[in-house]
Amino acid sequence: MSDRTIQDRITLHDSLGVAEFDFSHMTFATEAEVDACYDEIDRRLAATSRQWYFLVIYADCVIVPEVWERFAARGKNTNINYSLGTVRVGTSAATREAIRQQAGRAMFRANIFDSRDQALFAIGEMRKRHEVVGRDAAEVFLRVEDVHLSFGGVKALTGVGFTVNRGEVTSIIGPNGAGKSSMLNVISGFYRPSRGQIIFEGNDRTHLAAHEVARLGFARTFQNIALFKGMTTLDNIMTGRSLKIKSNFLTDALYWGFAQKEEIKHREHVEKIIDFLEIQAIRKTPVGRLPYGLQKRVELARALAMEPKVLLLDEPMAGMNVEEKEDMARFILDVNDQWGTTVILIEHDMGVVMDISNYVVVLDYGVKIAEGTPDEVRADPVVIRAYLGAH
Ligand SMILES: Nc1ncnc2c1ncn2[C@@H]1O[C@H](COP(=O)(O)OP(=O)(O)OP(=O)(O)O)[C@@H](O)[C@H]1O
Ligand SMILES: [Mg+2]
Repeated sequence: MSDRTIQDRITLHDSLGVAEFDFSHMTFATEAEVDACYDEIDRRLAATSRQWYFLVIYADCVIVPEVWERFAARGKNTNINYSLGTVRVGTSAATREAIRQQAGRAMFRANIFDSRDQALFAIGEMRKRHEVVGRDAAEVFLRVEDVHLSFGGVKALTGVGFTVNRGEVTSIIGPNGAGKSSMLNVISGFYRPSRGQIIFEGNDRTHLAAHEVARLGFARTFQNIALFKGMTTLDNIMTGRSLKIKSNFLTDALYWGFAQKEEIKHREHVEKIIDFLEIQAIRKTPVGRLPYGLQKRVELARALAMEPKVLLLDEPMAGMNVEEKEDMARFILDVNDQWGTTVILIEHDMGVVMDISNYVVVLDYGVKIAEGTPDEVRADPVVIRAYLGAH
């Protein structure tokens, strides 16, 4: 595979908390080679009994298409067990191409940097955010208190309460009809609870209308995609800026230059999001012509265009294949990492939920039946029963 041993290619920078894997000039041609490499990585990391930020160097690394799936699966597994966050440097065009072909899609994941310095800087940013949201320092950002909501005779939510910490990913899970979307609709201001409060940054915002809640910094995506199908990706995303656009017809007429400058500023921001979500290739495509997975991504882009403090995502991965789900999970984590955006997520795929959540709230028949870290919730007999009963 290479003249250097795998052991030589693993460097644990203790003081930085960074585990560096140097795959430069390596060729992964067989699954056995992938396994040998990841077996050694897992063995080394297991011995440390801690988690690390991963820095992976891909310069001139070749992963042949036949083994990419294995490579991705082993990498993901190692990430789940030992990684606090992963940055990649110098993927060659060939590696990207191999990944693209194998995944059968046109996109590639984020967190790829041109230089090792940039990657280390990104790790520093991740670490800062993790420190801020560490258990002791965590502050309550959003508090849902004793929320009740009914539709005629149907009690969608009964006395539901939980808190959301700033900068964390909080997931709401539960069987069909549990009240998850209803809860998100209450948080977004779309539904008004018949009892209970929503406290945001210390202020009671229970009685605000949806557009006022949006102004406070809440943006959402819908369980059923709600985009303008005939409009292009770019125009759909621009609609997300409407809240931010200050000029109107009168100011346009009086201060033409001001409006023009504003327009440029908005376009720049939107272009940044397009780059971030890797949807450059479809910016001029009418959304109705895009495959489902990409439409979901455009919807996320539109929500991000609002520069939200809190991003509410109702089943952003429903109906996606495994690769698309992994991409979406990555993007959600990247948004959370790079902008510190607080995320509230509804998702049925338990693997995804457990991978990316800091905290999980479980609803069943409109009642909160459990909450805690992913590990706590996964092991809770009440949760297991609710799920077994439902399927
Ligand atoms: N607009 C509505 N009018 C009447 N009943 C509703 C409405 N929205 C939700 N419900 C009812 O409230 C309950 C909770 O529904 P909700 O959509 O919040 O569940 P959910 O957990 O999001 O389910 P799913 O996983 O299927 O999306 C269900 O019994 C549902 O039929
Ligand atoms: Mg729902």
